[in-house]
Amino acid sequence: MDIHKYYGEFLRRFGDSSSAKLIEVRAPGRVNLIGEHTDYNDGFVLPMALDRATVILCRRRDDRTIRLYSAALNEMVEFSVDQPVRKDPPSWSLYVRGVAEALRDRNLITHGIDALTATDVPLGGGLSSSASFEVACALALLCANARRMDPVEMALACQWAEHQYVGISCGIMDQFICALAQAGHAMLLDCRNLTYRQAPLDDPDLRVVIVNSNVQHELVHSEYQTRRNQCQAAAAHVRKKFPAVKALRDVTADMLEQTRPGMDPTVFRRARHVISENRRTLEFAECMARQDWPTCGRLLCQSHYSLRDDYEVSCPELDALVEIACSVAGVYGARLTGGGFGGCIVIMVPRRVVDGLSAALASEYSRRTRKQASFFIAGAGAGARVVRG
Ligand code: GLA
Repeated sequence: MDIHKYYGEFLRRFGDSSSAKLIEVRAPGRVNLIGEHTDYNDGFVLPMALDRATVILCRRRDDRTIRLYSAALNEMVEFSVDQPVRKDPPSWSLYVRGVAEALRDRNLITHGIDALTATDVPLGGGLSSSASFEVACALALLCANARRMDPVEMALACQWAEHQYVGISCGIMDQFICALAQAGHAMLLDCRNLTYRQAPLDDPDLRVVIVNSNVQHELVHSEYQTRRNQCQAAAAHVRKKFPAVKALRDVTADMLEQTRPGMDPTVFRRARHVISENRRTLEFAECMARQDWPTCGRLLCQSHYSLRDDYEVSCPELDALVEIACSVAGVYGARLTGGGFGGCIVIMVPRRVVDGLSAALASEYSRRTRKQASFFIAGAGAGARVVRG
């Protein structure tokens, strides 16, 4: 994201007479390699930050007003830190309002900011444009107020903002990887206790490719909540026989089988996905450490089939992309990434196969769906940081 072209825009909107220093922060989007719909079940995830980010340029103000201009939407919001207002439009402003309240309640904000935001993370594509915006807002406000926050605390504060202001009960994966990623690495995160391990992703012959289906089905938020409820129902059912079970993380395939009688069949399949996905994620981490890409690829495909058949969060466009990708000779594997119902797939592929893959996707996807997909190679980017300030 080249922010320099926005410096002039920033000065035009907010003037150049302020003596406060100009701050620039950036917070990456992410692609989840594996571990889907496991974070809110106390499970394991293995995301990687992208080399694409949400950037905020800002300057501290003397009062407690926040003014934020979105370059992507050509829209400005203005509110007081003391009254962030949970329901005021436009809806994108709820992220910054929520983050402002979370930081204010921790006594971390004395001053507001004038700010401009721009991003090259595709919006609504399942690559955590929201989390990257939240974390960028947090970092901009902290930097302007000369305050610091532990990055884990910052991720939790941003998750709180999304729950309370945006009304989505997301897990912790997106904000966590955005705040704590290390360049050149993916991260194995235990969402129960938030312990993590940086996992090097530095094989020069491997490429991680992202393909955006460019569809976003409307069900995404309501279905997300339904899945969460079904997982809780499954855990509650298993707990009747195994009282130590706190979440699906604690359930093995064998325990699930033993408690199958009396369990709603849909709830059973949801649980089967989560349990098998946790196992796949740990296995993937082991295979990644020894650069066993063929096995990693097989795990990606199994994850996709489980998300499609047991968890039912795929859609025809994502299934078509995965099918096309996997039909190209040499491709290790592919799966939908993020919450589902549209957005992107992730593919692992040897470098020499990238061109053939790109050609196959371009022609076949539009032939099958009459839609255009966008294709890019993802580098493992760094976590959120202050670039200037
Ligand atoms: C969304 C949520 C995450 C996670 C994924 C599914 O991205 O924000 O917390 O639950 O869906 O794995």
